[in-house]
Amino acid sequence: INIELPDEQARAEAAQRIKIGLYFATWWALNVVFNIYNKKVLNAFPYPWLTSTLSLAAGSSMMLISWATKVAETPKVDLEFWKMLLPVAVAHTIGHVAATVSMSKVAVSFTHIIKSGEPAFSVLVQRFLLGETFPFSVYLSLLPIIGGCALAAVTELNFNMTGFMGAMISNLAFVFRNIFSKKGMKGKSVSGMNYYACLSMLSLLILTPFAIAMEGPQMWAAGWQKAASQIGPNFVWWVVAQSVFYHLYNQVSYMSLDQISPLTFSIGNTMKRISVIVSSIIIFHTPVQPINALGAAIAILGTFLYSQAKQ
Ligand code: 3PG
Repeated sequence: INIELPDEQARAEAAQRIKIGLYFATWWALNVVFNIYNKKVLNAFPYPWLTSTLSLAAGSSMMLISWATKVAETPKVDLEFWKMLLPVAVAHTIGHVAATVSMSKVAVSFTHIIKSGEPAFSVLVQRFLLGETFPFSVYLSLLPIIGGCALAAVTELNFNMTGFMGAMISNLAFVFRNIFSKKGMKGKSVSGMNYYACLSMLSLLILTPFAIAMEGPQMWAAGWQKAASQIGPNFVWWVVAQSVFYHLYNQVSYMSLDQISPLTFSIGNTMKRISVIVSSIIIFHTPVQPINALGAAIAILGTFLYSQAKQ
């Protein structure tokens, strides 16, 4: 037994690493597809409040069907669970709609460069609002993150204030969402997949009235007709793709959050942004100046330094 144990342990660890690796690869691939279709839709149909709502609606319906057909196990949740979920859902809704508004105004790569500054927001929120302190090296790593994002922003050829602010608001909201979700998932019998399903449903309820107030059916109908006549029958499939892929990438990310620390999660998230930035620049032929790319590279390097410092 003594001889076999370390072997078994090594095997279990290797299997866990492979599992997390597969989760990460799937999460990034789904996210790239979402970002491409989301931007294609927004270029033709600039109504981010509706597209954000449709993403949540698609996820909610997919999960309701999965529960009804017993493809996924229905979670056992009580009123206490929904109460705990409410602040997470508010933060998720704000972060999601703000990112989508941002992407409707600027290049996908620009939104994600600003969103790579999320760790800086996380440290500032934890320091000033929650009173947690960090080693000096962590604060030092914020300099390249903030400096790099600032350089990328001021040299961005198609800078737009709403686009910039949307990404900043999304950063702030997602910091709160991640702190609250990790707390809410701890010690609960609800799996990462079902936790995200409930989150989508609650966010959908919150977002729908705001989407109607901000844009509304009249604008949507006119915009839809225009987009469908420009793009043709494929337009509806683009909308379906952005909605379904939004749910899938988030579901996989929550399935991994279930298994890993928030720190590993945020490193995975930054690596995800690199794949999105590079692929969207290629696909949408986004013009990038060398100084602009340098800013993005410094910001991303800063995020890696941050993860080292936090470890
Ligand atoms: C959204 O629409 O919610 C954003 O694209 C999310 O961005 P993130 O999941 O990459 O932080």
